[in-house]
Amino acid sequence: MDNELAGTLTDSNSSFSSPSPPSSSTGLGASAGIAVGVKNQDTGAEDAWSLRGEVQSSEDATPRRISRSPTLPDEQAPQNSDSVRDGTEIPPSRGEPENSSLLDNPPNIARIRQVMFECRDSIEISLEEFERYWPFIDNVWVKQRSNSSKEGHCTTDYYMCRLRRPTCRPSQSRPLPEGKRPRKKSIREGGTCNVQIKVVRFEGAYSTITISKTPGSSRSHSHDLDYIDKVKRNSGLMEFARREAVKGYLPSSIFTKFQEEPQKLFEAGGRFLTATDVRNVSSKWRIQNPEVKLVPHRGYEYQQGHGIVKIHRGSDNTITSVGPATPEQPQKPPLPPDTLPYPLFSLDFLEPYLPKHDERRRFPHVTLSYASSMDSKISLTPGMQTVLSGPEAKLMTHFLRSRHDAILVGVGTVLADNPGLNCRLEGAGGFGGLGRMWQPRPVVVDPTGRWDVHPECRMLKVAVEGKGKAPWVVISPGAQIHPQKLMMLKGYGGDYLRIVEYNQSWRLRWEAILRALAAEGIQSLMIEGGGTILSELLNPEYSDFIDSIIVTVAPTYLGRGGVNVSPDSKQDEDGKPKAALSPGDVTWTPLGQNVIMCGKIRVPVSSEPPNLSGDEGSARDPL
Ligand SMILES: NC(=O)c1ccc[n+]([C@@H]2O[C@H](COP(=O)([O-])OP(=O)(O)OC[C@H]3O[C@@H](n4cnc5c(N)ncnc54)[C@H](OP(=O)(O)O)[C@@H]3O)[C@@H](O)[C@H]2O)c1
Repeated sequence: MDNELAGTLTDSNSSFSSPSPPSSSTGLGASAGIAVGVKNQDTGAEDAWSLRGEVQSSEDATPRRISRSPTLPDEQAPQNSDSVRDGTEIPPSRGEPENSSLLDNPPNIARIRQVMFECRDSIEISLEEFERYWPFIDNVWVKQRSNSSKEGHCTTDYYMCRLRRPTCRPSQSRPLPEGKRPRKKSIREGGTCNVQIKVVRFEGAYSTITISKTPGSSRSHSHDLDYIDKVKRNSGLMEFARREAVKGYLPSSIFTKFQEEPQKLFEAGGRFLTATDVRNVSSKWRIQNPEVKLVPHRGYEYQQGHGIVKIHRGSDNTITSVGPATPEQPQKPPLPPDTLPYPLFSLDFLEPYLPKHDERRRFPHVTLSYASSMDSKISLTPGMQTVLSGPEAKLMTHFLRSRHDAILVGVGTVLADNPGLNCRLEGAGGFGGLGRMWQPRPVVVDPTGRWDVHPECRMLKVAVEGKGKAPWVVISPGAQIHPQKLMMLKGYGGDYLRIVEYNQSWRLRWEAILRALAAEGIQSLMIEGGGTILSELLNPEYSDFIDSIIVTVAPTYLGRGGVNVSPDSKQDEDGKPKAALSPGDVTWTPLGQNVIMCGKIRVPVSSEPPNLSGDEGSARDPL
């Protein structure tokens, strides 16, 4: 799921030190303590960031001459043959402003590196985002093998952690050639970390990359990211150096400029970068271009005892100070107009009812969440969308969506509302966030395939725009799905899930639906409606499957014609009427014009499958 990724967001300028891991495995709210009134680095609220913001100044591209620095006699030239010479024609690319940054970090790189290092949950991102971020974390991973699907839609690359490779010890016995000193080589201990991932590239109506652990992988690395950064530099960072070196700048000047922005350097994985790394990455170009005279950057000079430093000159050309440049600040690009602001009020009251990571669970955590009138109606009339949530409750619903892997609705709701079933909070994928983070997978229960899925429906539109995921449609064995329709949905990244188990009322068995979703990696499911599905699941025989219920109550009566949510009537052993269902641990919290009722339904006992009675008892064996 992407919620983990969501929970780890911070602004790209937020951390001076090494990026720290997310404080909780449950993602955004947990790490934020859901005290969303104070926007901090884990909430992704105010510092929600976008991927598309890159600022690079490019001015003053005119070739010019520079003269030898008066402070640089030949014998004081920078070491390691980096030379500065007179009268060099500077190529246009060298005429950059003095304060331009060499570290063109993608937004939020520190957090994204940490998330892509840990890979706690599966991460779904666009191809473009993958290409932007992967080079900054490729030092962690070593490719093992690749394979492709038959249809050619999917390519899977398998990687292992660099420290999974066995330790390579150079043979001691081999004699060194005459006059050659032994290389200073530190041997890293291999075979110590068993984290393995797969990177699945899907190319259809849109392209996505999904990164997840393989079944044989350990849950976490045996070391931190700094350790790998020390062992090996990532290629994103080295590309910054190479890109600058080919303009004809001295490696020591490039290194000096890097060091002027320690925060950005650390965030990109350059904590242990050395001048030698910069020299090495530029050596190939230097061999190919021996005639180019290397120079320091404009405004930089060699100073004895200091190396290359930035020079501030007075009007009479005297040096007034020597110090670091002021780096430019990245700009945030605009968000889509339908972006919802991250809630600034506290949603702490939801915390006890939200999904928690539990590896032993065989079924997803299920939350029933809907908006109801005082007379328990969810819409004025069947097939009609009715607004019952105020602005605050709407933000809460989107917050809940960000905390679940999937949202399930019945086909009646899809036909009535044409919903997008995405999360539009600022910081979610498509709304300033990475990939499809915080975006739940829409699941539509449509046993006979009544829903005509087409590219104009909102769910597919938001999927193409990168603002949500394409739906999975749950169908029964008898549903006739045209192969073209199937291929079209698959092309958008959606799919049909055929469930072959019925209950005694010849409806699809919820146990089978939930099991199928769990098998697809869904660990938390929010069921939003409509009336038929909610009423069915509020029957006590489903209590073992439903963890929480969160109802937004609106101060209005919709009247008898509305779509009702109500379980069947129940009787005790003596035939006396009794309450059908009474949730436990109930809280009532006012939120704007609404009141939010939260409660727990399932009594957690064991991870064994529940013993089902009533309707959910199987009608027949699986087909
Ligand atoms: N206020 C809110 O929070 C909220 C939220 C969502 C929806 N709504 C409203 O609710 C209304 C729609 O409710 P609805 O009752 O008409 O539709 P629904 O509950 O969304 O969908 C019902 C349909 O889903 C299929 N289905 C459900 N359970 C099934 C099972 N176990 N096995 C097989 N199929 C199953 C059936 O399809 P088949 O008929 O094809 O068998 C059934 O007719 C709309 O007006 C919508 O606006 C309100």
